[in-house]
Amino acid sequence: MSVPYHRPRRLRSTAAMRRMTAEYRVDPAELVLPAFVREGLSEPNPIGSMPGVVQHTMDSLVRASAEAVKLGLGGIMLFGIPAERDACGTAGTNPDGVLNKAIAAVRAEVGDALVIMSDVCLDEFTDHGHCGVLAEDGSVDNDASLEIYAQMAVTQADAGAHMLGPSGMMDGQVAVIRQALDAAGHQDVSQIAYAAKYSSAFYGPFREAVDSQLKGDRRTYQMHSANRREALREVELDLEEGADIIMVKPAMSYLDILADVARISPVPVAAYQISGEYAMIEAAAANGWIDRKAAIEESVLGIKRAGANIILTYWAAEMAQWLRDRS
Ligand code: PBG
Repeated sequence: MSVPYHRPRRLRSTAAMRRMTAEYRVDPAELVLPAFVREGLSEPNPIGSMPGVVQHTMDSLVRASAEAVKLGLGGIMLFGIPAERDACGTAGTNPDGVLNKAIAAVRAEVGDALVIMSDVCLDEFTDHGHCGVLAEDGSVDNDASLEIYAQMAVTQADAGAHMLGPSGMMDGQVAVIRQALDAAGHQDVSQIAYAAKYSSAFYGPFREAVDSQLKGDRRTYQMHSANRREALREVELDLEEGADIIMVKPAMSYLDILADVARISPVPVAAYQISGEYAMIEAAAANGWIDRKAAIEESVLGIKRAGANIILTYWAAEMAQWLRDRS
């Protein structure tokens, strides 16, 4: 063995050296905070499986959005939980529905200082909990769902959303929403397309967060976790349909997909660090099994390194605060 001339450790020798040579860093502007607002609440309601995350009242949501601006976050992604549900998810298309009112309230508070995103999907609004409406045989009816998505999208844009997040995994959803928005004069409202959204056990806590009525699963519309090539097909279709940003979801178990997509995408790529990813780290940290802050930072950095330009994470505000405290 000759002398080791090559010593990668030199660049790890001090904190300043490590900081200077870091290949990736996270900026608050690329973080998006997902937030839940529930109709009829008088106090914010903690979500048991997501310690630190609440179902907001309209007021507490507005305060959270003002805080997001102060912290320099990129955006906020809004989800609504209605008081009443039905088979067609009427509360989603009603301009007075909780999500649409929340969009308007947040827009009135923050204006254009934050990218206001909203979920275009029926699962929070239907009494069966599926992301679309059902056909007579009980299957999820793709094309009938698209018609409702188009109405939801226009209603959300009317309410003041800057960017819509179609998350139902119906074929053609991005195109149908694009057409409806354009026809309504909303050419400048953009879409963050849940292009590669996998059927995942890690959505569990979200189902509590939105009080989901779902029995069964979403395997006939969300992607099979065994598939990698198919993600590229979904991305290509969404790009053709006019997606402005492409999203991969979940993040942690799909970093290979994220890297594949990042390599080919001509538009910004987002990743959603979902509820189960949040819950696992919080639970392990609460048990003293991992260092909470270090685990959070490492998990988000991993998503960034895999290729995400934009990261949706329930830790967005807290991370932004850490980043501020550091500088
Ligand atoms: C569907 C939707 C889901 C999530 C975001 N949008 C739930 C699902 O597909 O079952 C999950 C987000 C999370 O788990 O944090 N509207």
